[in-house]
Amino acid sequence: MENLALILLFGWITWSSAVYIPERAAAAALNLKYLLEPPVYAEVTGRRGQNITLPCVLRAKPSQYRVKWSKLEPERVGPENVILVSNEKGCKPYGPLGRRASLRRAHMMDASLQLSHLQLQDDGMYRCQLVHGIEDESVVVSLWVEGVVFPYQSENGRYSFTFHEAKESCAQQDSTLASFSQLYRAWTEGLDWCNAGWLRDGTVHYPIIQPRPACGVGLLSGIRSYGAKDKKQDRFDAFCFTSQTAGYVFYVSGSFSFRQAADTCERQGARLALVGQLYAAWRFQKYDQCDGGWLSDGSVRFPISAPRERCGGIAEAGVRSFGFPDKSASLYGAYCYRQ
Ligand SMILES: *[C@@H]1O[C@H](CO)[C@@H](O)[C@H](O)[C@H]1NC(C)=O
Repeated sequence: MENLALILLFGWITWSSAVYIPERAAAAALNLKYLLEPPVYAEVTGRRGQNITLPCVLRAKPSQYRVKWSKLEPERVGPENVILVSNEKGCKPYGPLGRRASLRRAHMMDASLQLSHLQLQDDGMYRCQLVHGIEDESVVVSLWVEGVVFPYQSENGRYSFTFHEAKESCAQQDSTLASFSQLYRAWTEGLDWCNAGWLRDGTVHYPIIQPRPACGVGLLSGIRSYGAKDKKQDRFDAFCFTSQTAGYVFYVSGSFSFRQAADTCERQGARLALVGQLYAAWRFQKYDQCDGGWLSDGSVRFPISAPRERCGGIAEAGVRSFGFPDKSASLYGAYCYRQ
């Protein structure tokens, strides 16, 4: 494997402090006059569909001021992503969050941002900025969407996605391309995958828990990086990220072809589950079913939460895959998803 760089824990810490921490550290070092300083509130966690609050509390109220909430997007080109601006009298939402964003105003000093119906792409860093004449103070809060990262390969085999195809494929499986921090956290939770995949920022990585020669000789456990790749030319797998779903997945046992499995779900007022939906059920409902079943992309998988000898014999919990079998082979059950 050429071009192989290994990002170890220390590497990551240095990297992350280079990218994220200064903003917070600077805010703390500023000795804020008006805003309550982090790290009292540094990170908020929520699942898709939930309502969350990003706290921002005034400690002193200037005579006239505005509070501006924006999302920090290091890769964004163009103007900043303003979410809302408020003054004493009112509050105006902007941008794609629209009415999902509002100010909490639980008390006189409250400028906290409420976000309803959390979505996967809400994950990230948010800035609460107080503007008072020429004075300007801000604090940064990160929003962590709780979820699961899964590697995704095309039906056409390993390494067949360009960046945009990877992005599209994740979207078709009820997910988004994962960020580096999402992949990193998934790795700490046990994700081990010996194929490189696209991340949201156009870089390519793969997470290894158990070093083995096939996944890079002489390397330690860690996230391996190919760095930024050519989004149009280069082809890899995808790392997708999803979170809790509103509906639920259920298994119908039988010996179905792909077509029969799809019909079976439809007769029950449901549809064949998307890969992201099965992962979400596994992660959030501890879904466990020791039977291979068709999913809507034509793959056959099954979710294991309580690993046991006769269910694949792998010691770790996970969603197992039989790949993309012949669609006319009538050998599997069906995983259906009902809203
Ligand atoms: C979330 O917020 C929306 C809109 O503000 C509200 O209609 C809904 O009931 C809230 N959901 C929960 C679970 O609090």
